[in-house]
Amino acid sequence: MRAVQVQEFGPPSGLVVAEVPDPEPGPGEVVIAVAAAGVNFPDILVVEGTYQNLPERPFSPGKEAAGTVLAVGEGVERLAVGQRVLTLVEHGAFTEQLLVPEELVVALPDEITFEQAAAFGLVYSTAYFGLVRRARLSEGEWVLVTGAGGGVGSAGVQLAKALGATVIALARDEERARLAREQGADVALTSDASTLRDDLLRVTGGHGVDVTLEMVGGDVLTQVVRATAWEGRVVIVGFASGGQNPIKPGHLLVKNISVVGLQSSDYRDRTPELMRSTMEEMLQLFVEGRITIPVDSTFPLGKTGDALQAVKDGGIKGKVVIVPERA
Ligand SMILES: NC(=O)c1ccc[n+]([C@@H]2O[C@H](COP(=O)([O-])OP(=O)(O)OC[C@H]3O[C@@H](n4cnc5c(N)ncnc54)[C@H](OP(=O)(O)O)[C@@H]3O)[C@@H](O)[C@H]2O)c1
Repeated sequence: MRAVQVQEFGPPSGLVVAEVPDPEPGPGEVVIAVAAAGVNFPDILVVEGTYQNLPERPFSPGKEAAGTVLAVGEGVERLAVGQRVLTLVEHGAFTEQLLVPEELVVALPDEITFEQAAAFGLVYSTAYFGLVRRARLSEGEWVLVTGAGGGVGSAGVQLAKALGATVIALARDEERARLAREQGADVALTSDASTLRDDLLRVTGGHGVDVTLEMVGGDVLTQVVRATAWEGRVVIVGFASGGQNPIKPGHLLVKNISVVGLQSSDYRDRTPELMRSTMEEMLQLFVEGRITIPVDSTFPLGKTGDALQAVKDGGIKGKVVIVPERA
């Protein structure tokens, strides 16, 4: 079978498609015939060698895949050959056949396509664990989602709305702001860091933001902390701008603000049952039409480097998905 490999860390154009042996499932393992694999911003960091968790090279990148169960190992009872499934993994999804422990696999409802499912898992689990587990979001609170035009951002806007929050989206341009409104944002701003604090206080009638899913970093994070309400929570999800500005303890002290980190993959590794039940809950929201997953474009396996570069370049409206059989 074919698998995309990182042989040397570097730009996405350096990815190689290699012939590797078909995987065989051991006890408790499942082989999935990958129909679609989602591209996520962290894949770029992995391929470039700057991500926090990197395996020995060569390895296959890719953190989520949807497809059908091709083979099951001894003791696997929850899943059967031919079943439509989704899985979240640390690495390896950009391949034709993916070997995974059964505990990381979720059955898919008929209503979701493989392409949608492959684009769904990581962004919605990240948004869910950020909003619900780390920020303890309550109905009626003001939620700010920065980087709202991106994958996690779009999921965050929709999920916060579905959970009963009043949602402010921060996007980089008017087109993305409009998309965020279409996805349920009550307010969509395109403010830069110089006006962000004032704009957030104005929009919330002076209350400030209760919960922020913060993906941009840099000066945006600084201003978000300053515009946070009493007992507000800021969830650090990423640094898409590349900046990691320090946070002033005084800003936290004066309004009892919590800044919390999020590494959503930890829930997959430490609490796989919780990750599965969360995915099932998210998929149910999808079936009910309360959240969506816009797929921007698909690329064949052999063009995975181009797919990652497109995400890196920005300007994507929705998710990018690798579809192996088109290679
Ligand atoms: N902590 C976790 O568990 C976890 C999980 C998944 C992702 N992440 C992180 O979350 C972030 C978003 O991931 P994603 O998959 O949603 O990525 P994505 O789809 O590429 O979205 C990135 C978003 O950030 C915006 N952005 C990029 N550079 C910016 C800048 N200089 N200033 C302001 N906005 C900027 C982009 O705006 P445009 O749309 O205008 O280009 C886009 O909306 C990344 O930092 C990623 O590493 C963290």
